Amino acid sequence: MKIIGGPASQLLSSRVAFALDCELALCEFKNFPDNELYIRILDDIGQEAVIIQSTVTDSDLIALLQLIDACATANRIHVIIPYMGYARQDKQFNPGEALSARVIARTIEADNVITVNIHEEAVLDHFRCRAVNVNAAYLVGEYIRDMGLNQPIILAPDKGAKELAASAAYELKIDYDHLEKKRLSGDTVQVTPKNLNVAGRDVIILDDIVATGGTMAEAVRMLKNQGAGDIYIACIHPVLTGSALIKLYHSGVKDVIATDTIEKAVSKISVAQLLAGIIRDL
Ligand code: R5P
Repeated sequence: MKIIGGPASQLLSSRVAFALDCELALCEFKNFPDNELYIRILDDIGQEAVIIQSTVTDSDLIALLQLIDACATANRIHVIIPYMGYARQDKQFNPGEALSARVIARTIEADNVITVNIHEEAVLDHFRCRAVNVNAAYLVGEYIRDMGLNQPIILAPDKGAKELAASAAYELKIDYDHLEKKRLSGDTVQVTPKNLNVAGRDVIILDDIVATGGTMAEAVRMLKNQGAGDIYIACIHPVLTGSALIKLYHSGVKDVIATDTIEKAVSKISVAQLLAGIIRDL
């Protein structure tokens, strides 16, 4: 088995290869003068190829498609997409709209596809091959365990992320809840935890994705007003566009914690061992 790391997932691919004691293929990535991408796998690909590439940008997706094509001589190709872009575009709201998540899924030809905390699991049905999603939330729980927090509570910023908070809290047996918006008047909205009181407690707000940071920054402000102790932001996928990090620290968070499905400075948790376990069972 050969691990082929795409340009967006070089560190994670190296960590997975190390965990599996597998060879990591040497690849060349460059742009032509007109900006088109060029990829070449320099090592022998062998019979079984595992391509690891997050698709944060459109170029990342092109690179993934190129890598799949470059592995055409392999008997089996497994594609790991630690962060799958466009997975939030999983519904058509208006006539004439593209179902973008479906388009992306249909372009990927492989024997197996594995995603990590894909935004919407229903997207897996659009792949033309076996596709499974793995949940890395427990790794956030493990990380939190060693932080020495005061009466910690894991909060999802909305009902949609409640299951994520639950799975991060499960092993630790700590409290979790989700934030709920209450309309107090025509122009006043209050955001509070649905069941628990955060006063004096350290809080970890956990979501699958932090993109602009808007959702989290708003939640931090509300929780500070409610007397929370230290507030941390955690996510699986640190998309972090533009000034998202500044927005978060400006809102008063103590730290931002994420996994390496997207390789950023805040990617303090690695999903490598989790992926290695899944790859071993393919
Ligand atoms: C959306 O449903 C996701 O789970 C996140 O809540 C969202 O992507 C966060 O976006 P932003 O950081 O831009 O507020």
